[in-house]
Amino acid sequence: METSDVQADLKHVLYSREQIQQRIAELAADIDKDYEGRELLIVGVLKGAVMVMADLARALHSHVKMDWMAVSSYGSGTQSSGVVRILKDLETDLMGKHVLIVEDIIDSGLTLSWLKTNLLSRGPATVEICTLLRKPAAAKVDLDVKYVGFDIPNEFVVGYGLDFAEKYRNLDFVGTLAPHVYE
Ligand code: IMP
Ligand code: MG
Repeated sequence: METSDVQADLKHVLYSREQIQQRIAELAADIDKDYEGRELLIVGVLKGAVMVMADLARALHSHVKMDWMAVSSYGSGTQSSGVVRILKDLETDLMGKHVLIVEDIIDSGLTLSWLKTNLLSRGPATVEICTLLRKPAAAKVDLDVKYVGFDIPNEFVVGYGLDFAEKYRNLDFVGTLAPHVYE
């Protein structure tokens, strides 16, 4: 879906399809350079990171292996609790591997902080994080994020994998919703 398909639901477009593709190409170039000569496994966090994974993987000029995890924050409500449950685990043995976790957005950073610790306990050579979007709250946790697409204001965003009640994931851009949608 593009902007014209959801015009009435939108407050504004934060990043267009073109801006996202441009930034992902830059991140891919950094990743190609940083992992040159090493075998890389990229791990997508379902479901939000599907679009970023698909576009990032195709923008890379090196071979990568791809695997997926699904996690859910165990708390109630919309705030991340930091207690995470694994809904779908990796199929890959991480021993000695170079791992790059790919995420759509880091808000509090609690989910990724937990996930990074969990993957590190499996004996990989390295674990780094790549996220398309990052909110200011993430700065309050001690989480080293190697690749960040865009630092964004503290607003709820949808599109390009990100949902509101499972809707809007298939927008080809990132935008904020008009208040009438969630009020
Ligand atoms: P964290 O543990 O607070 O960093 O939670 C990150 C997760 O919360 C993301 O993977 C998203 O699923 C969800 N999330 C955080 N902010 C937004 C947003 O603005 N729109 C949609 N989902 C969000
Ligand atoms: Mg997510």
